[in-house]
Amino acid sequence: MEHCIKICMGSSCYSRGNQENLERIERYLSKRKIGCVIDLRGSRCEGLCSDGPIVEIDGRIHGGVNADSIEQLLDQQLLLQ
Ligand code: FES
Repeated sequence: MEHCIKICMGSSCYSRGNQENLERIERYLSKRKIGCVIDLRGSRCEGLCSDGPIVEIDGRIHGGVNADSIEQLLDQQLLLQ
């Protein structure tokens, strides 16, 4: 299965944590073999700034993603399907 991770790179999400989230996601993906192709795409403001930082995984939008929750979120969305 091909996964798609979209990281909001609008200024609000970027400054509130998506810069770090992007680095953590890249580290997570390079560390694990999850048998799929990952498509990392930056995106412009999703219009959900108040819920940010926004990370979309396989069409599902997640708000308030931070350094503490990103790994668990990736485990849930990518490994436990
Ligand atoms: S900057 Fe991410 S939703 Fe607006």
